[in-house]
Amino acid sequence: MSTATLPPIDGGTPVLGHLLPFFRDPVSVLRQGYQSRGKLFSFNILGRTMNVMLGPEHNRFFFEETDKLLSIRESMPFFLKMFSPDFYSFAEMDEYLRQRAVIMPRFKAAAMKQYVGVMVEESLNLVNRLGSEGEFDLIPTLGPVVMDIAAHSFMGKEFHEKLGHEFFELFREFSGGMEFVLPLWLPTPKMVKSQRAKRKLHAILQGWIEKRRAAPLDPPDFFQGMIESKYPDGRPIPDELIRHLILLLVWAGHETTAGQVSWALADILQNADYETVLRDELRLVLGGDDGSSLGWEQAVAMQKMDLALRETERLHPVAFILSRKASTDIEREGYTIRKGDFVLLAPSVTHRMTETWIEPDRYNPERFNAEREDAQIESNSLVGFGGGVHRCAGVNFARMEMKIILAVLLQNYEMELLDEVRPIAGAGTYWPAQPCRVRYRKRARNSEAGRALRNSQRQRAVR
Ligand code: HEM
Repeated sequence: MSTATLPPIDGGTPVLGHLLPFFRDPVSVLRQGYQSRGKLFSFNILGRTMNVMLGPEHNRFFFEETDKLLSIRESMPFFLKMFSPDFYSFAEMDEYLRQRAVIMPRFKAAAMKQYVGVMVEESLNLVNRLGSEGEFDLIPTLGPVVMDIAAHSFMGKEFHEKLGHEFFELFREFSGGMEFVLPLWLPTPKMVKSQRAKRKLHAILQGWIEKRRAAPLDPPDFFQGMIESKYPDGRPIPDELIRHLILLLVWAGHETTAGQVSWALADILQNADYETVLRDELRLVLGGDDGSSLGWEQAVAMQKMDLALRETERLHPVAFILSRKASTDIEREGYTIRKGDFVLLAPSVTHRMTETWIEPDRYNPERFNAEREDAQIESNSLVGFGGGVHRCAGVNFARMEMKIILAVLLQNYEMELLDEVRPIAGAGTYWPAQPCRVRYRKRARNSEAGRALRNSQRQRAVR
């Protein structure tokens, strides 16, 4: 095996390494690495070597080797404090797959139909709160809608109405337990709050599990389905696992979706030509409706919106790095990655590599249009939702949710961005920085116009 390690990038100080620049602006450090060293390079944080792999071929390796040469559990120690040692990616492989099998059927395309109504209802509630005109800031406005949709979909309407606010506040404190730098035993205020919120959330969820057992909901919703779930050998799943799974889904889905849908709206509002394409599609699918007739079929028919969401995932992947630890020494293109070193995959850089994408910095959703000859859909090139066995369990849910929130906003409002859109500073989830305000005014919707457009498109299709 070669003794050469991945080429290090310039800069960094003896003890801290690249800690400060990375935590100030991680994507710039990663881009600098790609420009100066290519698809494989390394940098250092507090003596720990971070090996970065870029491009579809390395992405494939990273996904295929997770849980083999690469360990996901050792790369996320904070997960242990937020959940428990025998839970999900921390459990042994057999147990992880058993737990994963409890949630996966609830996110298959066929199961998605039951959530569409909730997504529309919560998006229309936002329109009610916004009224006919004003300004809103993207993240503080869309974040709570994402939380409303999660609480309503996973715990039911009654829970959401009675406890939504308290749940949201506790949840924010719980999420503060995502600590990447400091040792986890340090009783920092953030950690203490996170652990206290965790205990309260478990107590609330246990109360609702017991309530539902005493009075089951028929037909069952998501929560009822979880409570009644059984392992393949017929054993009921323990209450503690139900509580962890609910918290995992809300945690994994909240910050990511809030950030991605905010980027998506900002991208649309900055690209007037494509906004027109989306508005035409919406008129065709929904006519002059405010969004309340939006159902599964209409959502599936919004194919241009799908392309727009993929383009935002490419340009602004909120999960801008994925992390693993090498379980053994690994040879890669003549270099060695040492056992115990971190291995990072960077969608934020891979998604803009000129080797893979034509005009990578240009917003062009049509690049994903499979009907076009020049479509750019090489496998493992778009990885905003990860890949392999750990690929995002909620990808269908998130895509549907973002589609519906955007459709309802576009159907109801003319909108313009008031601030320049910049990514948030720091190494957390890659959100648009605040403020990122949108000015909005109610649109005059015209169902006649929608009907006329539908007819003309039908005639064109017949010709
Ligand atoms: C735009 C929104 C979202 C993005 C960009 C996103 C991104 C990701 C990524 C990149 C991973 C893989 C992490 C890795 O390999 O290290 C992941 C995993 C996961 N996501 Fe998402 N996610 C989103 C929304 C959601 C939602 C809404 C849910 C649940 C309802 C969810 C549940 C999960 C779960 C449970 C995993 C762990 C999968 C496993 O290890 O088996 N995500 N997500």
